[in-house]
Amino acid sequence: MTSQVSDAPAAGAGAAARAADLWKVYGSGEAQVIALRGVNVELERGRFTAIMGPSGSGKSTLMHCLAGLDTATRGQISVGDTALTGLDDGGLTRLRREKVGFIFQQFNLLPTLTAEENILLPLAIAGRKPDPEWYRTVITTVGLADRLTHRPSQLSGGQQQRVACARALVSRPEVIFADEPTGNLDSRSGAEILNFLRRSVTEHGQTIVMVTHDANAASHADRVIFLADGQIVDELTAPTADAVLDRIKRLDAAPVAGAAE
Ligand SMILES: Nc1ncnc2c1ncn2[C@@H]1O[C@H](COP(=O)(O)OP(=O)(O)OP(=O)(O)O)[C@@H](O)[C@H]1O
Ligand SMILES: [Mg+2]
Repeated sequence: MTSQVSDAPAAGAGAAARAADLWKVYGSGEAQVIALRGVNVELERGRFTAIMGPSGSGKSTLMHCLAGLDTATRGQISVGDTALTGLDDGGLTRLRREKVGFIFQQFNLLPTLTAEENILLPLAIAGRKPDPEWYRTVITTVGLADRLTHRPSQLSGGQQQRVACARALVSRPEVIFADEPTGNLDSRSGAEILNFLRRSVTEHGQTIVMVTHDANAASHADRVIFLADGQIVDELTAPTADAVLDRIKRLDAAPVAGAAE
């Protein structure tokens, strides 16, 4: 093979991220867990996708594999036009640094840094400077202009999560992965975060993938993918909270593997 390989766009390269026949197996023997069983998914650019499914269905595993935080047992993954399969540790680190943003349930801010330092940390590590205009837009949109010198312990949960959102957005990553970003927030703070994520997609063309257990949160997305037992079993576009709840009820009632009519 030539050195061109990593530059060659894979099929479906228009997607912000993509998995083809993705399997993830943890452990071996009696302790073996098959977390993902041949997942095929394309996450379109500039869209907000929610991933739902029961606890243990593989949502976080799928997200971690797509984000280069975990490796596939089998199958292909790409982020933008970069194929993750075959990247070494250094390549994966660069990919996470340059192309991916993260928002976690527990905020994951560094306690000794101010809000501003937390927001700029990933760029600083990458040796990059923020685009000043975009930085101001992000800070204003998340409503943090008067909190930039505060440390996480001096901020509410909702404000800390807004710092985490700003940190993910400021580098304009190819895709932002959010794992239950509103899971630790009261409903008002959660709604603020969801509206903010929605606006960053609609107004700024950001691509976001969000795991959630909450039908209302999922209704902010353009598309909802339903996982069960490591497989994609259903999806909805332009979801309403009622449609999501209805789909969850039906999936709960249906047997998963090898389901026949
Ligand atoms: N590092 C690991 N080692 C072994 N098994 C794991 C590991 N990570 C996840 N698993 C298993 O893989 C399966 C999928 O886990 P995953 O965390 O993706 O589920 P999830 O859908 O995100 O669940 P939740 O809604 O509870 O967060 C589970 O059975 C889990 O126990
Ligand atoms: Mg999870």
